[in-house]
Amino acid sequence: MIFLRRRSIIILVLIYLFSNCTTCYSNSCINGCDLALASLFIWPESDLPIISQLFDNMPSSDILDWNTQITSTFILTESRVNVPFRCDCLNNGEFLGHVFSYNVCANDTYDLIATRLYSSLTNKELLMRDNSYPDNNIPDHVTLNVTVDCSCGNKDVSKDYGLFITYPMRQGENLSYIALVTNTSSKLIEMYNPMVNFSAGSGLLYIPGKDKLGNYPPIPTRKGSSGKTIAALAVAALAGVSLLVGIIYVGIYRKKEQKVAATIPASSGQSHPPSPGLSGIHVDKSVEFSYEELAKSTDNFSISNKIGEGGFGTVYYAELRGKKAAIKRMNREGRTEFLAELKILTHVHHLNLVSLIGYCIERSLFLVYEFIENGNLSQHLRGRDTLPWSTRVQIALDSARGLEYIHEYTVPVYIHRDIKSANILIDKNFHAKVGDFGLTKLVENGNSTIPTRFMGTFGYMPPEYGHSGIISSKIDVYAFGVVLYELISSKEAVVKEDGIDEARSLVALFGEAHNHPNPIEGISKLIDPKLEDNYPFDSVQKMIQLANACTEKDHEMRPTMRSVVVALMALSSSIED
Ligand SMILES: Nc1ncnc2c1ncn2[C@@H]1O[C@H](COP(=O)(O)OP(=O)(O)OP(=O)(O)O)[C@@H](O)[C@H]1O
Ligand SMILES: *[C@@H]1O[C@H](CO)[C@@H](O)[C@H](O)[C@H]1NC(C)=O
Repeated sequence: MIFLRRRSIIILVLIYLFSNCTTCYSNSCINGCDLALASLFIWPESDLPIISQLFDNMPSSDILDWNTQITSTFILTESRVNVPFRCDCLNNGEFLGHVFSYNVCANDTYDLIATRLYSSLTNKELLMRDNSYPDNNIPDHVTLNVTVDCSCGNKDVSKDYGLFITYPMRQGENLSYIALVTNTSSKLIEMYNPMVNFSAGSGLLYIPGKDKLGNYPPIPTRKGSSGKTIAALAVAALAGVSLLVGIIYVGIYRKKEQKVAATIPASSGQSHPPSPGLSGIHVDKSVEFSYEELAKSTDNFSISNKIGEGGFGTVYYAELRGKKAAIKRMNREGRTEFLAELKILTHVHHLNLVSLIGYCIERSLFLVYEFIENGNLSQHLRGRDTLPWSTRVQIALDSARGLEYIHEYTVPVYIHRDIKSANILIDKNFHAKVGDFGLTKLVENGNSTIPTRFMGTFGYMPPEYGHSGIISSKIDVYAFGVVLYELISSKEAVVKEDGIDEARSLVALFGEAHNHPNPIEGISKLIDPKLEDNYPFDSVQKMIQLANACTEKDHEMRPTMRSVVVALMALSSSIED
C-alpha cells in the first residue's frame, strides 16, 4: 500500500518538475554538508582572535587545526588561512552558503566588510541583500548577516571530491599561481570552475580541499536506491507541491537521515575529525593489557624504572610493544566498574593532553600513558635551567588548549579537578600536555575501602571548593590561574617564606602585590628573578591580569577556558612580533 502511494507521488512529482523547470536553479541544493573551508586573506592588523570573531567566534584551535603551516604563535600576514565552516542549503534550496554574524564597528561600510575584513569571501551586493540597513547608515554595534558561498562537490564532475575551499581570487593571481599555492592541479581547478575567467583577479573559485590527513575526502555515499527519489521529493516539497507531499517526504526523509547518520562515524559531523595519529590503530582490543605484559615492560616494576610518585599512585617508565610509555600503578583495585570510563578516556586525543593508551585491572589498577620526555612543569620552574618568557607563554597556551578541549569538546565533557604544575608535562619540543584528566571520576566512582583522597591540591583550590560544593569547570580555571602565577614567579602554589610561620598561597601574594601602594613595585618583586630583564613587562602584566581574572573569588566572574585560550593567543603573538 504505502509502496504504491510512494510510487504515485513520485510520478506526480516528476511531472511537476518537468513542467516547472524554469525554477530549477543550476546551483540549487537539497542538503548542505558539514564542512567547507573559506580561504581568508590575512591583513597586517589581523590576528587569530579577530578571525575567530569574523566567523561566529569559532575557537581558534579549530582554525589552527586546519592550518598546520601556522606555528600556533603567529600568522604570516598577506598569507591565507583556511577557516572551516558548515555549508548550509539556504533560501529554501536556492544555494549553498553559510550566514555568519558580524558585529559592526565604527566606520564599517559594506564594501570594507566584504573586501577587507572578509577578503572578498562575500561581496557588497550580498551584504546589501541580506541586511536591512542602507550602506551609508549602518548603526554601530548591530549584527549583520554575512553570507559566504560554498560547495559540497558535484557528483556529475567527480564523486572523489567532497570538500571544497571557497577561494576569492585576488588581483595578480592566475590559474598557475593558485594551483601552486593551493597545491592542486590546474586541471582539477578548471574542472570545478568552468565558467571562470582566471585572469580577472577577482571572483570566487571552488577548489577541492584535503582533509587533515592530506587526503581528498570523497562525496559521502548515501546507500540505498531511494536517494534519487528523496532528492526529487525534496525539491518538490521545496517547490511547494502540496502539504501532503511535504509531510510524506518528511517521513521518508527522516528515516533516510537516520540511516545515513548511522553509517557515518559520530565525529565526522563536527569539525573535529579523529586525530591523525590514531588512524589505522585498532584501539579497542589493544587497550587492555595483561599484568604480565606490564610487569615485563617495567622490569617488574623495578625501582630503577620509577619516574614519579603522585597522590594516586606510582609512575614507572616502560617499553611496551616497542614504544615508550608511562605506567601508573594506582593505589587501588581495578574494578570492572572503571572499565567503561577507561574505555572512553582512551578515545580522548588532543595535542595538549597526555593520551591514555590503555589499562590493566589485574591485581591493581594500572593506567598506561604515552611517555612525555621532558618531565613536568613544576620541575622546570624550580630546576636549574631558566625557562625563557616566550616558552612560559607557550606552555600556558598549550595547557589552556588541553583544558579547553576537555571542557568543551569531549563527550562527556570533563572537569579536571587537579590542575597544577606537576600535572602539566613538557615534551621534547617544550610543548605542554595536561595529564591525569578524567581520573577524578575513577577515584570517586569506586567505593573502595581505601579512603578516598581529598580531591584537589592545596593552593590550587578555589574558595567555593568545600564550602558551597559547587563543582564546575571554573574550578579548573582557578587552578589554571595559579599555574599562571607559577609561570610568572616560579614560586610554588603555597609559599613558605623565611621568618614567617604561616605558609601563604600564591594567590594571596599576588593579591597583596596588586593592592600595594605602588603595584608595579609590588608585582616586580614577584616576577621570577631568574628571568632577569629578559621579558617584556607589559606581557607579564597581561599574564598577571589574566591570572587575576582566573582566580576571582566569584566563580561566575572567571573567564571560560575558551576565552583564556584567546587571550593567551593574543599574548603569544605579541611576543613573536
Ligand atoms: N605520561 C608520563 N610521561 C612521563 N612522565 C610522567 C607521565 N605521567 C607522570 N609522569 C611523571 O610522574 C610524576 C607523578 O605523576 P602523577 O600524575 O602520579 O603525580 P602528580 O601529578 O605529581 O600528583 P597527583 O597524583 O596528585 O596528580 C609526574 O609529575 C611526572 O613527572
Ligand atoms: C539577518 O537575516 C535575518 C533572517 O533572514 C533577518 O531576520 C534579519 O533582519 C537580518 N539582519 C539584518 C541586519 O538585516
